[in-house]
Amino acid sequence: MRLSTPSVVSDPHTEYLLHCTPTPQGINGMIRLKNVEKSYRSGAGETFVLRRISGEVAQGDFLTIMGPSGAGKTTLLSILGMLDGDWRGEFYLYDHPVHAMKPRDRMELNKQYIGFVFQQYHLLDDLTVYENLEIPLSYRNVKRKERQAMVADSLDRFNIVGKKDLYPNQLSGGQQQLVAVARAVIADPKLILADEPTGSLHSIQGKMIMDLLKELNAQGTTIIQVTHNEAWAAYGNRIMNLRDGWIVESLDR
Ligand SMILES: Nc1ncnc2c1ncn2[C@@H]1O[C@H](COP(=O)(O)OP(=O)(O)OP(=O)(O)O)[C@@H](O)[C@H]1O
Ligand SMILES: [Mg+2]
Repeated sequence: MRLSTPSVVSDPHTEYLLHCTPTPQGINGMIRLKNVEKSYRSGAGETFVLRRISGEVAQGDFLTIMGPSGAGKTTLLSILGMLDGDWRGEFYLYDHPVHAMKPRDRMELNKQYIGFVFQQYHLLDDLTVYENLEIPLSYRNVKRKERQAMVADSLDRFNIVGKKDLYPNQLSGGQQQLVAVARAVIADPKLILADEPTGSLHSIQGKMIMDLLKELNAQGTTIIQVTHNEAWAAYGNRIMNLRDGWIVESLDR
């Protein structure tokens, strides 16, 4: 699959819209960012890791974020996932002003809307695979019987039934990644944020995960993935390139 001509390519010291035609506010503009910036103190100075990130993601988009190591991809995904509150600018999820919210309220939004696949998996070490998969369902108050059925389906779908009573440190890296993806999608979130979700997988399993994301997207789930893999990037409808914290390119496919 080929990428289309860039819709926005310009010098990085300008604000960029992620989308060439902004989505009308309140209709299907799921995420709106305005001048989001993040920096760390370094000695007497300040090192920026995200600069003037502005734009929109519509409900039903499948956006791929690419860029070299250290570009700020995980940092941006963590902000979008409400896992980081230490940044400046404006971020609306639907009509919720995330920038003005308390950490506890942000976490509630995370639980309600978001499934997150961490680059380093972040499974809970003292819970079994089965128990890790149950957690997002318990956040949504799914009843015990229904939880059991959903976890059983998920174990089956990801081909990890035999691992259900093992702890994360008894799994290979790739198996942990499968559980991490299963955990992110099990409660059918409106928004899936996936940080290199196939990085530790064999290409056949990687394709299985990407086909699953594509299927969920076709059913209306909004997906934002980070990948270094051009073939996986082509699964989405938009690609955004980050470099040194700046959006340097935004493509509609
Ligand atoms: N606690 C911290 N203190 C200072 N700088 C940090 C801290 N955490 C992250 N950074 C810096 O933020 C920048 C962006 O990191 P980030 O993890 O977002 O990169 P990335 O694009 O996800 O890279 P990769 O492809 O390797 O995963 C890096 O230069 C990193 O050194
Ligand atoms: Mg990263």
